[in-house]
Amino acid sequence: MSENAEQIWQWNGVLGAKWVAEQESLDAQLAPMSQLLAEAAGAQPGDHVLDVGCGCGATTLALAQAVGVTGQVVGVDVSTPMLARAAQRLAGLPRPPELVQADAQTAALGEARFDRIVSRFGVMFFSDPAQAFANLARALRPGGRLAFVCWRAASENPWAHVPLSVALRHVPQPAPGDPHAPGPFAFADAARTGAMLEAAGFRAVRAEPSDGDMSLGGARTLDEAAAFATRNGPAGRLLRDAAPEVIARIEAELRVALAPCLTPTGVHMPYAVWVVTATR
Ligand SMILES: C[S@@+](CC[C@H](N)C(=O)[O-])C[C@H]1O[C@@H](n2cnc3c(N)ncnc32)[C@H](O)[C@@H]1O
Repeated sequence: MSENAEQIWQWNGVLGAKWVAEQESLDAQLAPMSQLLAEAAGAQPGDHVLDVGCGCGATTLALAQAVGVTGQVVGVDVSTPMLARAAQRLAGLPRPPELVQADAQTAALGEARFDRIVSRFGVMFFSDPAQAFANLARALRPGGRLAFVCWRAASENPWAHVPLSVALRHVPQPAPGDPHAPGPFAFADAARTGAMLEAAGFRAVRAEPSDGDMSLGGARTLDEAAAFATRNGPAGRLLRDAAPEVIARIEAELRVALAPCLTPTGVHMPYAVWVVTATR
């Protein structure tokens, strides 16, 4: 059984289904980080690029456009439903990316095959990140560039901690887990991430903090934002099995808590990420 069996199960089950159902909302939310990633990766026409944890393919599509018909993009992911959505979106491109269903921690991805390896929030779910980054380093050509975005701590990301604190008024607090366990905030500690990358063979490792404003799931109204916040992020995970009447009470409180975030263009909240780059 794969070391990432638990994550593979989740991304082929409840998480994969959710990311497919919410693909447009999540892509709207994550659009600013796509831009950060594109700038950090700097993909050029003709490049060979690996998109790790490519999911439903938003960044894979953007990379395919950046590298053009002389380049090649490969998206690797463990999730059957998310790769199926990516395939739908990528069909018809002049040189469609290759989509590979595999665990990026251990899969044979080729030796020095890629000019760039990129990821939008797809590298924080490895059971053994040291093994995974060593595997990715092998697939990158000497001098090639690694670029990914990952979340800083939940406490720095109100889109995560505001809905969670409202939810915790209504459901029991789970026992605290390992902060470095696979999950969205596993790489919040940039010093630890940097040390891991260096040990895996990367050099010139940099983690730049980036702060900005993002749409909360593309929500235009407080109703949409409150509903999105109870389905997604740390609150969504906590409320997965909550009764509809409990969710309704939490949504009512969230409409109040999120009211200051309502703007003429929708509901916006601050985000805090690391933009991590490194060279092989
Ligand atoms: C938070 S989602 C991000 C998806 C996509 N990059 C995006 O920004 O929309 C994390 C992705 O990583 C994938 N993933 C998790 N563990 C993985 C692994 N070991 N190998 C490859 N992909 C993995 C999941 O299936 C999921 O698609």
